[in-house]
Amino acid sequence: MKKIMIINGPNLNLLGVREPGIYGSSSFESYLPSLRGRYPDVELQYFQSNIEGELIDRLQAVGFDYDGIVLNAGAYTHTSVALLDCIRSLKAPVIEVHISNVHRREEFRHHSMISAGCLGVICGFGLDSYRLAVEALLAG
Ligand code: DQA
Repeated sequence: MKKIMIINGPNLNLLGVREPGIYGSSSFESYLPSLRGRYPDVELQYFQSNIEGELIDRLQAVGFDYDGIVLNAGAYTHTSVALLDCIRSLKAPVIEVHISNVHRREEFRHHSMISAGCLGVICGFGLDSYRLAVEALLAG
């Protein structure tokens, strides 16, 4: 069975409540069962943290064993050299995901620190961005 880890960074625990005009009105916990239901042959694990070091700890814990990682690093996307270094250290491919189209938003969201370490980037498709990333990992 393939193992894929989905990791959400800061403030993504507030999905459904946080700026629903941008991020939608579903929580990630309510979306996850439908995603899991689409891939009964894949072990889809999920982790969220608001703390940069905890994201790095989890990436390191799964990054040599899992078949792929879907990472929405939230605002750390735009700032974190530590996350880039971590992603570059791993064996598992990482796909960078964003719910919103960051390129249609403020300029500071246009640059990602982590893209250079990732297999690819998916952004702007709402929660469906996560499914597209899982598809890309399974196809790879
Ligand atoms: C986000 C985009 C980031 O710029 C922002 O800081 C987030 C969410 C997204 O999923 O669209 O927290 O990663």
